[in-house]
Amino acid sequence: MMMQLFAVIGALATLNFAKNAYQFLTFHFVKPAKPLSSYKRTSQPRDDTEDEKTTWALITGSSAGIGLGIAQELILQGFGVILHGHLPVELAEAKDHLLKYGQSHPPRKQVKSTPPPQIEIRVLDARTATDDDLTSLVNSLSHLDVSILVNNVGGNAIREPNFLEVKDMTTRDIDSVIDQNARFMSRLTCLILPSLAKNPKALIINFSSAGKVGCPWLVMYSATKAFNHGFSVGLGRELKLNPQTKHIDCICVIPHEVKSQGNSKGVPGNAPNWDDFGREIVQKVDNAVRRGEWEIRPHLGHGIEAGILNGGLDWLVWWIPGLDWNAVLEKGFVDTIRRKRDAWWEFKGARVNENGLWDGGNGNLETVGNGNGNGAKVVTEDGGATRKVNNGDGRKHSED
Ligand SMILES: NC(=O)c1ccc[n+]([C@@H]2O[C@H](COP(=O)([O-])OP(=O)(O)OC[C@H]3O[C@@H](n4cnc5c(N)ncnc54)[C@H](OP(=O)(O)O)[C@@H]3O)[C@@H](O)[C@H]2O)c1
Repeated sequence: MMMQLFAVIGALATLNFAKNAYQFLTFHFVKPAKPLSSYKRTSQPRDDTEDEKTTWALITGSSAGIGLGIAQELILQGFGVILHGHLPVELAEAKDHLLKYGQSHPPRKQVKSTPPPQIEIRVLDARTATDDDLTSLVNSLSHLDVSILVNNVGGNAIREPNFLEVKDMTTRDIDSVIDQNARFMSRLTCLILPSLAKNPKALIINFSSAGKVGCPWLVMYSATKAFNHGFSVGLGRELKLNPQTKHIDCICVIPHEVKSQGNSKGVPGNAPNWDDFGREIVQKVDNAVRRGEWEIRPHLGHGIEAGILNGGLDWLVWWIPGLDWNAVLEKGFVDTIRRKRDAWWEFKGARVNENGLWDGGNGNLETVGNGNGNGAKVVTEDGGATRKVNNGDGRKHSED
C-alpha cells in the first residue's frame, strides 16, 4: 500500500515537473510569427498600396535603454511609437536612430509599400510632472490609436554618488524616486485608461525589477519596484473583472541585470543588452498573456536565476552537512549589489570612509543621478541643462 502511495506521489511530481519544464521551454523558444498583432487595428488595407492605419504604443523613458529597445522592435512589428523622455535633444537623437533602424529593417507587414516608421515625441519630466502636464500629454494623443502603454521609465533618481544609505538621503531624494518610479506611472495609467479601453484590445506593460525583494543601498528603488509589481498585478486582476475593461491585458516585466544606459557599471558579463532585452519582451508577452500570467522574466538566464533563488536547487543541496544554502544565496545577492555600488562609486570618484562606506558629509551632492541604480548621467537639480558623462555603454554622451 505504502509503495503504491509513493508511486502515485512520484508520478504526480514528475508530471508537475514535466508541465513546468514544458511551459518554461515553450515560453522561451516558441515565438509568435507576428508578436503583439492582436493589439493592432483589425481593419485591413483595401489594396496592396494602402498602408494599414497605424496603431501606436506609448513607451515612457524611451530615449535610451530598454524603452528604446522595445521601440525598435515595435517598429519592426509595424507599430507607431510615441517616445517619451525629459530631454528633447536625446529624444530627437533616439527618433533619428529609430528612423535609420526602421529603414534598414523594414516593417514585417503584408503590404508592398514600406512607409517610414511612425514616430512621435513627448517631453515630460517624470519626477516633476504635474496633473496638468500629464493631462496635456494624454490629450495630445487623442488623435492617435494608442493600444499599448509601456510604463518603462524608472531609476534611482537621487543625488550622486547614488547608492546612498537611507540615513544619508534627503527627503527630496526620497520623493524624487517615488515621483519618478511610482507616482508618474500610476497617474499616467489612470489618465490614459479610458482611451486604451476604446480599442478592441489593449496592453499595459509595467516595469518592476528583481530588486523588488529589497536591496541595500537601493532601498527606495527596490521599494518603488515592489510598488510597480503590486500595482501591475492588482490592476491586471481589476481590469479582467470589469466587462468594460477585460479586453485590456496587463503584465509586469521583472528584469534582472540588463546592460543599459542606466545600468552600465559592475554589470555581470552574462547580462543581456538593452536592445536584445527589449526584443525579448515584445516577442514573449503574447505567450504569457495567453497563459493568464501577471509577470514575466523574458530573458532565459533571468528565468533560471529566479528558479534558483526561489528554491529550484534546494532539493539538490539540503542534505550537504554544514551548508546554509539561504546564507549562500543572501551573500551572493548582497555581493552583487555591493559590486555595482563600488563600481559606480569608483567611476564617480566618490569619497569612501575608513569602513568602506559613503561618507555622507562630503562629496558632490548637488547633482541627481538619473539611471537605474547606476545613474547614467549627471543632471542638474533644476532639470535644466545637462552635463552628460560617458558611462561606457557606447551610446551618445557629449559634454554641453
Ligand atoms: N537595466 C536593468 O538592469 C534593470 C533591472 C531591473 C529593472 N529595470 C527597469 O527597467 C526600466 C528601464 O531601465 P533602463 O536600465 O533601460 O533605464 P535607462 O537606461 O536609465 O533609461 C531610462 C530612460 O528613461 C528616461 N528618463 C530618465 N529619467 C527621466 C525622467 N525624470 N523623466 C522622463 N524620462 C526619464 C531616460 O532618458 P534620458 O536618457 O534623457 O535620461 C531614458 O530614456 C526601469 O524601470 C528600470 O527600473 C532595469
